[in-house]
Amino acid sequence: MIKLTNLDYSIDGKIILDSINLEFCKGETFVILGPSGCGKSTLLRLIIGLIKPSGGTIEIDGINTINYTVKDWRQIRQKMGMVFQSAALFDSLTIFDNVAFGLRRSGLNEAAITERVYQTLNLVGLPEDIATKMPADLSGGMKKRTAIARAVALEPPILLYDEPTTGLDPIIADTINELIKDLQLKLKITSIVVTHDIISALQIANRVGLLYQGKLVEIVDRNELSQAKHPLLKQFLHNYQLAI
Ligand SMILES: Nc1ncnc2c1ncn2[C@@H]1O[C@H](COP(=O)(O)OP(=O)(O)OP(=O)(O)O)[C@@H](O)[C@H]1O
Ligand SMILES: [Mg+2]
Repeated sequence: MIKLTNLDYSIDGKIILDSINLEFCKGETFVILGPSGCGKSTLLRLIIGLIKPSGGTIEIDGINTINYTVKDWRQIRQKMGMVFQSAALFDSLTIFDNVAFGLRRSGLNEAAITERVYQTLNLVGLPEDIATKMPADLSGGMKKRTAIARAVALEPPILLYDEPTTGLDPIIADTINELIKDLQLKLKITSIVVTHDIISALQIANRVGLLYQGKLVEIVDRNELSQAKHPLLKQFLHNYQLAI
């Protein structure tokens, strides 16, 4: 699937990510947990090839991407759906056109696109009559569902989520977590989720990696979280106990 080896990223002499080693398993939901500014979004941007590593390698399906051109990345990105931080919908497009965006670029005909858009809206739990609405007409939770619909419309084997529950109230956040789990089961998708929300992490993760000051300091199985060693991970878990 995706393998990161000694992955570094620096900008203006500042180390943002420091020797990340991580291999994602097929079909799992891997949550990268970490405080604000620790490098989570940067890591996702590297994985989808929007920025280039300063050192180390990213292998996708066994192929080193180091010499990939923009065109190669565009092709490999067909395998990856991305749900950006704060939904990032196209404000001037209807919900239909937002979800259809990637499908149009894939060369499907309009009838097939229409069918797929409605199937996908259904899959993410949005009503069909939402299709003609604009993003500004939707609640935060519905915008997030639309962003997820846009990312899964092409049924990519890998889905990346940047802070899928941030800014949502706890009840809506809960429904988004359920949706992420549901998609993993229905589409057998490999999900990589970055978040600073421990409640979300515990609901969806098969494994959790703690990113702290640019380093991946601990990786634990969901079932072994009680044995976590890093003080910050323990603190996250303590906060979780207080929250439930
Ligand atoms: N283009 C850039 N130029 C300068 N610094 C940057 C750039 N991109 C990211 N950084 C810095 O890199 C660090 C990590 O940023 P990143 O956005 O990856 O963090 P994050 O963990 O996603 O944070 P948040 O939880 O707030 O979204 C931050 O200190 C940020 O200021
Ligand atoms: Mg971020």
